[in-house]
Amino acid sequence: MRTQVVIIGGGPSGMLLGQLLHRHGIDSVVLERRDRAHVLSRIRAGVLEQGLVGLLDAAGVADRLHREGFVHDGTNISMDGAMFRLDLTALAGKPVVVYGQTEVTRDLYDARAAAGLPLIDNAEGVAIHGVDGDRPEVSFTRHGIEHRISCDFVAGCDGFHGISRRTIPASVRQDYEKVYPFGWLGILSETPPVSHELIYAGSDAGFALCSMRNANLSRYYVQCAAMDRVEDWTDARFWAELRRRLPGDVADALVTGPSIEKSIAPLRSFVTEPMRWGRLFLVGDAAHIVPPTGAKGLNTAASDVHYLWQALVQHYCDNDSNGLNRYSEQALLRVWKAERFSWWLTTLLHRFPDQTGFDRRMQAAEIAFLRDNHAAQVAFAQNYVGLPY
Ligand code: APR
Ligand code: PHB
Repeated sequence: MRTQVVIIGGGPSGMLLGQLLHRHGIDSVVLERRDRAHVLSRIRAGVLEQGLVGLLDAAGVADRLHREGFVHDGTNISMDGAMFRLDLTALAGKPVVVYGQTEVTRDLYDARAAAGLPLIDNAEGVAIHGVDGDRPEVSFTRHGIEHRISCDFVAGCDGFHGISRRTIPASVRQDYEKVYPFGWLGILSETPPVSHELIYAGSDAGFALCSMRNANLSRYYVQCAAMDRVEDWTDARFWAELRRRLPGDVADALVTGPSIEKSIAPLRSFVTEPMRWGRLFLVGDAAHIVPPTGAKGLNTAASDVHYLWQALVQHYCDNDSNGLNRYSEQALLRVWKAERFSWWLTTLLHRFPDQTGFDRRMQAAEIAFLRDNHAAQVAFAQNYVGLPY
């Protein structure tokens, strides 16, 4: 087999890149380790920056998003029961859109299938060869048969646990990591969301987040111990902890119900540099991870996709490789700003096991400054709605 770009990973990064390349006549093959059902079973965050909405428009997959997505002009911050709203549109000139990442991925799968584009699922033992030369190849096994694809470029969109990042020699690569001493326990419940906008709540008992997927599907999170297991948390314990961490009037309005999904995610900040090695380009979680507090995971993957898509179009259509040569430097500039905002918001709103009384006063003072200072609110809003590409 031969193609122009092999995309390793059929998550949102790989599928969005493939769709954008197709729209510009650039051929790709997507290699996905799992199958569609497994990929679409993953529950992920649901806040989309306008930049990502624009990419989905450009990819021709945004119709359902525009029909079913919720435009949010504001978000809410509370600390120890006192809550205030940040008017994102007034402060930063644009809203965010709440639409499940799973639905973004579903729309991308449907579009690739409708276009009859190659997506090879259940691809095992994917390996990258010769990316430091001019004729890279990718091999894989499917149903016991080995295959090789020759290509011009490889897009490593295979997430944090993929093989692409590890293909870059350790002597070339520099990893940066921070692991947080807690996790997020998330549930889905078929209940009306307690608020029509998100609520980010800090409290002495720990962090909580109120989000949603639709008018009768709520998404809630509570900070939990890093070693907690899902079986340690009954629904009753979850709802009690959530109520405890929310402002009283919000807690009183909470409609509870049985969880239809319950999972614990660890929190880490991670970046690998460079994001390019020869003809291999890392995209999304393959190169960086953020704690979900700022909803920057998918949105930062989207800016990587934007830069690589533009660079590949420039290469193939204008015979100009400047974009490819600048990809890593350009992508990392925005990646680190998203890492900073995600780290800052996580540090601001969570209870850390070793925190002192002074640390808690610093959190309270930072929240008070955000509540009272317009410049601080503008800075928050610009980061939350998405910095420019
Ligand atoms: N070979 C083929 N596919 C692989 C391999 C491999 N060796 N390893 C992983 N994959 C696939 C996974 O099965 C997954 O479907 O790559 C895909 C990577 O998708 P994500 O992990 O979702 O990463 P990405 O597409 O960059 O999306 C980033 O989605 O996962 C969230 O939190 C993440 O919001 C962020 C966004
Ligand atoms: C979600 O809806 O899952 C969600 C929303 C905002 C976040 C994180 C998760 O910051």
